[in-house]
This record gives sequence, structure tokens and C-alpha cells, in this order.
Amino acid sequence: MAKPQKTFACANCGCVYTKWQGKCDDCNDWNTISEQTAAVSGAPKGLSKQKGSTVSLVSLNEPVVNAPRTLSGISEFDRALGGGFVAGSAVLIGGDPGIGKSTLLLQAMAALALKGEDCVYFSGEEATAQIQMRADRLGLSKAPLKLGSETSLRNILTTLDNGPAPKAVVIDSIQTLFADHVEAAPGTVSQVRVCAHELISFAKRRGIIVLIVGHVTKDGQIAGPRVLEHMVDTVLYFEGDRGHQFRILRAVKNRFGGTDEIGVFEMTGLGLQEVTNPSELFLADHNTREPGTAVFAGIEGSRPLLVEIQALVARSSAANPRRAVVGWDSGRLAMVLAVLDARGGLGLSGCDVYLNVAGGLKISEPAADLAVAAALMSSLSQSALPQETVVFGEISLSGDVRSVSQTENRLKEATKLGFARAIMPKAKKTGSHGIKPQTVARVGELVEHFFPDA
Ligand code: TYD
Ligand code: MG
Repeated sequence: MAKPQKTFACANCGCVYTKWQGKCDDCNDWNTISEQTAAVSGAPKGLSKQKGSTVSLVSLNEPVVNAPRTLSGISEFDRALGGGFVAGSAVLIGGDPGIGKSTLLLQAMAALALKGEDCVYFSGEEATAQIQMRADRLGLSKAPLKLGSETSLRNILTTLDNGPAPKAVVIDSIQTLFADHVEAAPGTVSQVRVCAHELISFAKRRGIIVLIVGHVTKDGQIAGPRVLEHMVDTVLYFEGDRGHQFRILRAVKNRFGGTDEIGVFEMTGLGLQEVTNPSELFLADHNTREPGTAVFAGIEGSRPLLVEIQALVARSSAANPRRAVVGWDSGRLAMVLAVLDARGGLGLSGCDVYLNVAGGLKISEPAADLAVAAALMSSLSQSALPQETVVFGEISLSGDVRSVSQTENRLKEATKLGFARAIMPKAKKTGSHGIKPQTVARVGELVEHFFPDA
């Protein structure tokens, strides 16, 4: 019989190697590769001759019962989930340490328990007394939520199997869980993978909603394995700047709803509070009279969101001028700078450029191009944009301003917050709002606005 072959896996991205090496070629992390245990890495043997049972096949148009949804009672959480929890589904919640994952789940489970649902919260990181103290501070100690402090997968599954199945279970966090049949330390790929697999199949079998907390590594991935993301039905990231009060719960994968849907919260002394009108929060202290700022009318998921974009452009004598971006893609900034240089002749390549999305929000929409360009030119020309103006539109490499989706929604939100003008691409439907649209077809027109003499 052939000797079983050893395999090695990266604890960060799950990439598998046949021999050990110091650096993972896939994610470029050092010292993350370790030997996998045979239980996990063993190559599957050929199927035996024994016959299986036939699977009953159904046609696409056969009537189905829609998965019943359970609302958590925290509407921003339900929104990120695409309309509440689905029974038997697994949800992974990732985020930096201290961002508020445990707080969010404690609040959500307490709210669910108060509605009469049976919920269990297992923590491998905190003692039950610690959780009780937190719940007390948040005014949730009356909620009939069951707590457990446990890291053994076997004990957790035995507890859950004992009696009727609860509605929802929280595992905080998957990295602390330990399956005793796998010879690896908690937090390693093999452990995380086995524990998650066991939990998810158990939940599917009994129709339990399982919420798994996963830590995030320094470079922003859910620690340990990306494989976890494939195993669960929904992946939510809890993000935000610890220097700022608000937090964003973002769906990055959802088998039961749209992705890129966000829920907005504010971290207060009394736990996480929902923010139902995020634009007001992000624009709270913006000042349109200052050069270098532009208000971007964006869309996050299904919801319009106004944010302030701040730019600082300064002539530099350095050979490689500085480029610093917070909240936007630096590659995208390089592209906008190059287009402004090539189509507007602004000479930005000799300037230090700093760009910041106010409040710590991260924007990924290409529709922000025009707002970024406006903020950059406003800073360079030291002239502010006209008062009460929002900006949006995608810039192509040729310098054209392309139309973007959901123009009506963007304008509606801007009207609601007292804006009167919009610098935007030509759109077929703008609706009848109190907004005066100023359409631009090419970035050159915006350059002329800021530099009329050029
Ligand atoms: P926590 O939920 O423990 O974070 P995670 O589980 O993601 O590691 O949140 C901890 C932080 O939240 C901590 O730094 C303090 C802050 N916090 C508040 O500001 N107000 C509160 O009411 C609570 C419970 C926490
Ligand atoms: Mg925690």
C-alpha cells in the first residue's frame, strides 16, 4: 500500500502544498503553512461497488415553499441579511477585533429571545459572567437568552442535540472551537474547516440558524481559511473605523438575498444603535464652502447614501509625489488622475494627492469618479464647488462621463437632504425633484468650470 502523502496548508488562505515552505505563494504570507492531519487531507479512496440510493429529481418550475424568514428585530441587521434569517442557514460574521461583533450578536440574539424564540450563545472567548455583565450594561439582562462558555465542538453539539432544537445558535468565535478528533491546534485550517463543516451540517439537519463569528487577519481576510466563505450561506463583514462611531454591516455573499446590501450602526455607550438615515450621519458636519470637498450621491445596495469626499492636492518637488487614499481604491484614483492629466492637462503627476472619504466609509462604486475628480480640481484651483451640490458619474479612460444606475434614487436622496444642484452625466430619467441637473458629457467641461482661463 502506498504511504499516505503528507500535505501542508496555509492557515491564511487554505492553499495546499505537497511540501513545507516558509512563504505561501498564493497570499504571500510568511509562516502560515503547516502540516495537515490525515483526517482532513486524506485522499478519497475509490467508491466501493456497493449501490447507493437514487436521488429524486425535480423540475425547475415545480412549486416551492419559500424559505420562511425570521426577523431578528434589529432592522439594519435584517436588511443586511436580505430580509431576516433563513432557517437552517449558516451566517459568517467577520470583522476586526473590537469592532463590535460580539455586541451585535448579543443584541440580535437578545432581541430574538425577547420575541419568544429559543436562542443559544456559545462564547469561546468570554466567560458567561462577562457576557452577563455586558448584557446588563446594554439593558438586555431580562432577555431569556441562554449562554454557554465552551470551546469543545463535541460538547456544543451534544448540548444542542439535547432536547428540542433552538431557533438560533451563535458561535463566538470559530477560531476558538476545537474538534477532538482532529490533531491540530484551534484556529488552524483543519480545525476551522472541520468545526464549521460539522456545525453547518448539524444546523441544516435540525433547521437551526447558525451564526459564526470569524476573526479577520491584518490584511482583511477572514482568518484561517477562505474555505469558510464557501461553506456558509451568507458572509457578512462588520467594518468601520475604530476612531469613528459608526459601523457598517456589509453582505459580501448571500444565497438568500442581494449582496452589497448594508446595515449601518452607531456604537454608543449603550451598545449598537441602528442608523436609519445614514446620509445624515455621514454629512453631519460637512462644509461645502471649503475648497477640496465634494458630496457624492452614492448607492449602497438598494439604498442611496450621500458622503463627503475630501481631497488635498499640493505641488511637490519630490521625484515620487505622495498618493494617500482612505476609503477608496488607490488604483482607481491613479486612473482618475491620469485621465485629468491627459484630457485636462492639469499636471497632477507633479503633485502630492491625498484623498479621504469622510467618516471612514469605504466606497467601491465607479460612480464616485466624477465626485473625486471634482474634489481634486476644487482643491487644486482653491475654489469651492457651488453650494448645495451633489456629484456623481463614472469617468472612462477617454475622458467621457458615463451614466450610472439609479439616478432617480440618488437625486431623491439629495433633495431629501436639502441639496439643490447635481453635477451628473446625461440621464434618460431623472424624475421630477427640486434638483437642478447640470449634465457633463466629458471631464473637460468640469476642468473648464474650475480653470476657466486654461
Ligand atoms: P466587541 O463586541 O467585544 O467586539 P468584537 O467581538 O468584534 O471583538 O466590542 C468591543 C468594543 O465595543 C469595545 O472596544 C468597547 C465597545 N463598546 C462600546 O463602545 N459600547 C458598548 O455598549 C459595548 C458593549 C461595547
Ligand atoms: Mg468578540
